[in-house]
Amino acid sequence: MASTTSPELTQFAEDVLSGLSSSPKALSSRYFYDDEGSRLFMEIMNLPEYYPTRAEMKIFTEQKAEICDAFTSGTDGIDLIELGAGDGTKTAVLIEHLLSEDVDFTYQPIDISQEANDALETRFKEKFPALRIDPHTGDYFKVLGSLKSDSGRRKVILFLGSNIGNFLRDNAVAFFKSLRAVMNENDRLFVGFDMQKDPRTIVAAYDDKQGVTAAFNLNLLTRINRELSGDFDLSKFSHYAQYRPMECAARSFLISREKQTVNIKALNRSFNFEQWEAIFMEISQKYTHAMIDELAGDGGFEIEREFYNDEDFYIDSLWRPV
Ligand code: AVI
Repeated sequence: MASTTSPELTQFAEDVLSGLSSSPKALSSRYFYDDEGSRLFMEIMNLPEYYPTRAEMKIFTEQKAEICDAFTSGTDGIDLIELGAGDGTKTAVLIEHLLSEDVDFTYQPIDISQEANDALETRFKEKFPALRIDPHTGDYFKVLGSLKSDSGRRKVILFLGSNIGNFLRDNAVAFFKSLRAVMNENDRLFVGFDMQKDPRTIVAAYDDKQGVTAAFNLNLLTRINRELSGDFDLSKFSHYAQYRPMECAARSFLISREKQTVNIKALNRSFNFEQWEAIFMEISQKYTHAMIDELAGDGGFEIEREFYNDEDFYIDSLWRPV
């Protein structure tokens, strides 16, 4: 018999139910990435205002030799393991360098999506015929756990793009601790951090002129309409982005432009919105040196070396387990 607390509710449905039932309302940005959301994110990465992707790319192109030396120093070879590689453009720079230096290495992207892994494998096999690529589909920690005792070689785990910024701090610490638990002493973690900077630069990056970021946020309402039979009217919500310098946190919201009720059939529920009521959609945390240092320590690591882009103030930080 069907009921609203039915165990058949998907994780997505459960999270939407609890997010829209809470006060203030919230939806999780981890659900942004359906097909359209992934396409919109690719578009965001090419926007003139969205500097983080270019900033990290510049670090990789200008410092690839130093980065690869730091990865391989004192080892006979490495397993380069990437969490959520996307289209792999940045990692391709490192791979090309490692191949040109004849380093003994494998590349192992881990992604929850088989499709994303297949696309990356096809592209990289074509681009780098000599590359030993071994993609894994599934949950990061389960896959990493299964690789723990595998090769005896150093694992270098990449978590790029300031993806960590989309985690609340406690979740970020828990994430690092879980990674630490599946790493050996000689392994390394390489994390991309977007640093605090002119608040106007940050706000522009999350509220671009062309409205792509707005479409990216609103797309989650479309996803709810499609997958959970909702009746969100997108024209009645608008995207709002803010940056709070004291917390170094950029946040985005969808604002209800009028008093309204939204029905979501799969949840068997309706949700009332006051005029100007906000749904919290995403945090994009920015960092100071002290914050990175503390996060590393709380997660069970220490900083071995950092690679900077001064212009856009972005850091790729190499951590060793303690
Ligand atoms: C994936 N993540 C690091 C992006 C960010 O900058 O927080 C997602 C994003 N949201 C809006 N623009 C880009």
